Amino acid sequence: MTNHPDEVADRATTCFQHAYGQAPAGRWAAPGRVNLIGEHTDYNDGFVLPFALPLRTVVAATPQPTGSWTVCSELTGETVSFGTDEVTRPGRVTGWAAYVAGVVWALREAGHPVPGARLAVASDVPLGAGLSSSAALEAAVLTALVDLGGLELPADQQPRLAQRAENQYVGAPTGIMDQSAVIRCRAGHALFLDCRTERVEHIPFDLDGAGLAVLVIDSRAPHRHADGEYAARRASCEKAAALLDVPALRDVPPTGLDDALARLPDDETRRRVRHVVTEDQRVLDTVALLRDGQVRQIGPLLTASHASMRDDFAITVPEVDTAVEAALAAGALGARMTGGGFGGCVLALVEADQSDRVGTAVTAAYANRAFPTPTVTPATPAPGATRLD
Ligand code: GLA
Repeated sequence: MTNHPDEVADRATTCFQHAYGQAPAGRWAAPGRVNLIGEHTDYNDGFVLPFALPLRTVVAATPQPTGSWTVCSELTGETVSFGTDEVTRPGRVTGWAAYVAGVVWALREAGHPVPGARLAVASDVPLGAGLSSSAALEAAVLTALVDLGGLELPADQQPRLAQRAENQYVGAPTGIMDQSAVIRCRAGHALFLDCRTERVEHIPFDLDGAGLAVLVIDSRAPHRHADGEYAARRASCEKAAALLDVPALRDVPPTGLDDALARLPDDETRRRVRHVVTEDQRVLDTVALLRDGQVRQIGPLLTASHASMRDDFAITVPEVDTAVEAALAAGALGARMTGGGFGGCVLALVEADQSDRVGTAVTAAYANRAFPTPTVTPATPAPGATRLD
């Protein structure tokens, strides 16, 4: 996955100068992410293991009088302005700028004196590919406003605030994983996050050293009904937890799974619960192997995670199943869809010298099924949100 940090930052500056006729006071960047394992576990208070990508969103910014914000997007060419009226209640700014207004709203709700600002956004995180372009935008804006205003908001409290922007201002009922990943990840590491306590452990994930690569394959599948289906999965998990009389599905231990399933009323709910409970355990098993330096051995856990998402959680689509099957048939050590589902990206763990072979096999399988040509790019764990200059 090619990294052009300077190029994206330069584009943000150019966009800023074009819109405002001045130079920015600084530039802040936040990455996209992939999730190595732990899908739909975050809103069940469970475990996830994402890592940040070298692809980044960069915000160039400068203060302007408090109570007014202007943001331009290099991608759309639009400039959107809003004042305090638009950030007293969620939903008043819509479209891509809602992520920006949402961050201002969430900061103000939390009692922070948010500085007014002029902002310009450029990004090489693809939109709609399930790589957290929205969390990257939220985090880049958030770190910029925190710095510009000298706000007291430590990094470990920032993901929850960015999540509130997304949940309440934008209206997407997502968990805490994406915002945590893009803010708290470290280069060379995966982020082991307990989504209940928000405790993190940075797990070394040295692919080069192990002679391995993670390929990120954009399935190119359109996100069919993704928002409604995501909300439905979340509702189903919450209903199951209530029926089982536990605070969240994280509280069902693997040893208690059969008993729990026997208490549920229908097959669909049982499958949803089985996915979440077994997926939490797969995260813990993956972390144990990585701590032990056994990187190759995580492959079967990744593949089992995919089967669980396909058969029990029912969130995969033919394009991602095809990519996973073709990658495995070509010798990948493990492969799975990553992210919320219904399209997005697949990741495959491969011997580094097998990368081309696996990529070619996936592309050929797509051609056979007349799917659009997928993009296949190696990814290494990159740092989280940061000020550039
Ligand atoms: C999306 C959401 C996350 C998480 C994943 C599924 O990326 O934003 O909170 O629920 O789906 O693991």
